Amino acid sequence: MDALDCIRRRRSVREYSEQKIGREILEQIVDAGRLAPTANNIQPWEFVVVTKKGMLEKFGSITNYGGFIKGAAACILVFCKDTKYYLEDGCAATENVLLAAESFGIGACWVAGDKKSYVDEVRALAGAPEGHKLVAIISLGYPKAGAPAKTKRPLVEILHWEKFG
Ligand SMILES: Cc1cc2nc3c(=O)[nH]c(=O)nc-3n(C[C@H](O)[C@H](O)[C@H](O)COP(=O)(O)O)c2cc1C
Repeated sequence: MDALDCIRRRRSVREYSEQKIGREILEQIVDAGRLAPTANNIQPWEFVVVTKKGMLEKFGSITNYGGFIKGAAACILVFCKDTKYYLEDGCAATENVLLAAESFGIGACWVAGDKKSYVDEVRALAGAPEGHKLVAIISLGYPKAGAPAKTKRPLVEILHWEKFG
């Protein structure tokens, strides 16, 4: 799939079919996260792929806006070491993961990690070492239904040539 098509088609998907996602595809999705840019090329990240139903249910129950994770085929936890630009780096990886999922026809949704009260609980469940920040939880699954397209601010409103007009 063309990169721009992929970017244009991607929408958060929160309802998934029962179909599992192959391990090789999950590996390729994480590999796309690995290739994201990072400040000073530090690559502070670690990715945990979770497919066990019990764990998915647990993440669904402890996140305040991520209840749908329990119906996902998998989720990817994006952790970063506590570097100066961990959040920017982790977010770049998260977006790559979302786009890679889209390219495989897999629905995904970014569930907040950083700044949330449940970060320590997720870290403990994932066995992540101290000093690792949870940037995002990404739920994944083959879409059950087409995601409703969220409206986006029009280009003409957000694009400023040379300076704010
Ligand atoms: C930092 C961040 C945190 C988010 N957290 C959640 C969340 O906790 N639960 C959720 O359902 N969606 C979450 N989202 C997804 C947004 O709701 C979604 O991207 C937005 O509504 C735009 O829709 P779209 O992704 O379909 O373009 C998050 C997105 C970002 C970037």
